[in-house]
Amino acid sequence: EMASDSNWRGVPLTEIWGSQSPWGAPEFPLVAPAFNHTVLYHIPSNGSVADDRPPKPQIGHDKWDHDYVRMPCSSQSLYPVEDDSGETHLKKRWELIETALCKPIRNSEELATAILSYNTQFKESWKFSALHKLFNEHLEEEESQCFFDVTLPEIAKLALALPKLIQAPIPLLKQHKNRSISLSQQQISSLLANAFFCTFPRRNSTKKTSEYASFPHINFITLYNTNGSDAVLEKLTCLCHYFKRVCSKVPVGVLTFSRRSVPPRRCPAWPAAARPLGAVPLHVDSQHTIEDAGQLLQMDFANKYLGGGVLGYGCVQEEIRFVICPELMASMLFTEVLRPNEALMMIGCERYSNYAGYGSSFRWAGEHRDPAPCDSSLRRRTAVLALDAQPSGARAHEHQPGAVLRDLNKAWVGFSFYTEDAECLQYPGVATGNWGCGAFGGSPALKSLVQLMACAEARRPMAYYTFQDAKIRDEIISVYNLLARHNVTVGQLYHLILRFCQTDVRKGHLHTFIEQCLKDGGKPASPMPPPAEVPEQMDIS
Ligand code: AR6
Repeated sequence: EMASDSNWRGVPLTEIWGSQSPWGAPEFPLVAPAFNHTVLYHIPSNGSVADDRPPKPQIGHDKWDHDYVRMPCSSQSLYPVEDDSGETHLKKRWELIETALCKPIRNSEELATAILSYNTQFKESWKFSALHKLFNEHLEEEESQCFFDVTLPEIAKLALALPKLIQAPIPLLKQHKNRSISLSQQQISSLLANAFFCTFPRRNSTKKTSEYASFPHINFITLYNTNGSDAVLEKLTCLCHYFKRVCSKVPVGVLTFSRRSVPPRRCPAWPAAARPLGAVPLHVDSQHTIEDAGQLLQMDFANKYLGGGVLGYGCVQEEIRFVICPELMASMLFTEVLRPNEALMMIGCERYSNYAGYGSSFRWAGEHRDPAPCDSSLRRRTAVLALDAQPSGARAHEHQPGAVLRDLNKAWVGFSFYTEDAECLQYPGVATGNWGCGAFGGSPALKSLVQLMACAEARRPMAYYTFQDAKIRDEIISVYNLLARHNVTVGQLYHLILRFCQTDVRKGHLHTFIEQCLKDGGKPASPMPPPAEVPEQMDIS
């Protein structure tokens, strides 16, 4: 253990990386088209992709149905337009979009007018308050001017290049599916340019019965329509910075988005899980943040609707991550709301912005040059793992056995990504922290142990970032040392937690409870059922 004046405890980070350098561990499975992996760019038959120009699009034909993203440039996307005599005709919506975006757009009023020209039913309801505030009050006049003179025409070009850049249909990552999509950064930039101009069809409804009700928002209108708090304006600044960067130099890399869905009966039988917790290499740090953890599986403290409030008022861990690495927002286009036993892995995002503050004090803090190298498929070696914790309004709620089990399974489904591969044991560890403990109201004492148990079963080391909290850092390492000293297994800890859940959880502290139990009995008293008798776990969604 380190001297107590350093900011971390436990084993050094090199043990979590699984190598001496932050980029030394084996690469994740490379991009290869398969029945369950759609690659939207062309991989030359010799497999080698150029690293000096963006990959070419994969050839294909538009699909306009429930299994694919309905594209704004689809010839089947039609829109009612009234002619001079008052008669209504159906026109190709993409032609309306082309007309609107080819005209000069010199200020936020004209931008709003352009967007409304192919979204006419929202003329009265879309106010664009945040957008107007950004360009008329928040930014310096010169900055606004430069945006409309230089960057905006480029974003419009990028949006209009969509039919050229994406030719094969984009499948939806639906519930219960194990499926991947790989896209180039350039393709993603065009998709996000379309989101900027709010062109995606059928994605503006707020009705529970609408076609995309189980998908996140993607058109930026929900952000433009906020009243424009400082944090919102700073998020918009991050997004504008992203466009400025990708418009001035086309990025050449690619990203992979993978959904993993494991039925509850195939999750670990927790009561009988025999791995000792002390076998998990653990590093606990109070100074750094998850996004600085290098090639580890970096946790996104997600909402089951990916991105959470990024296109609204939200400005905590997930939303901040999505605006500093906007390519992650592509997930919002095609990822259906996550079920309790599902996770989303996103490999290859680039970070474009630095930030300061958090929540309402969040600020864009200038450009970021991402130091992460690329893997052999030209993805940045940054893996972001989206897992939504169970929101727990009250402390008692978090400690219901069903909620504990739900989060254990959720964490394990995510942490065990790729562990079916033989080389998995050399894969790097998880970079996480107070998952579910901010907006979702959980407690670090419980959530850190739940994640430790999931790491033990997935055989991954864990780096835990306590976000400036030295007290929690020291608590976590001391309960870990206690569990290691007593050789406590995952199953035994599971029983201890369930016993704690039966007490008045508002009064006690989980760590004190565990300490007391281990002192009294040495080992938890409750008998362990043999694996065959473990009841099939219920899906509690
Ligand atoms: N690195 C390490 N720890 C962090 C970081 C960081 N970059 N940022 C925050 N923390 P929260 P949740 C710590 O509230 O409770 C979003 O709207 C900090 O201690 O973002 O799971 C999502 O879309 C913070 O209090 O996660 C969901 O809707 C704690 O992590 C919802 O919030 C939890 O961060 C998820 O809420």
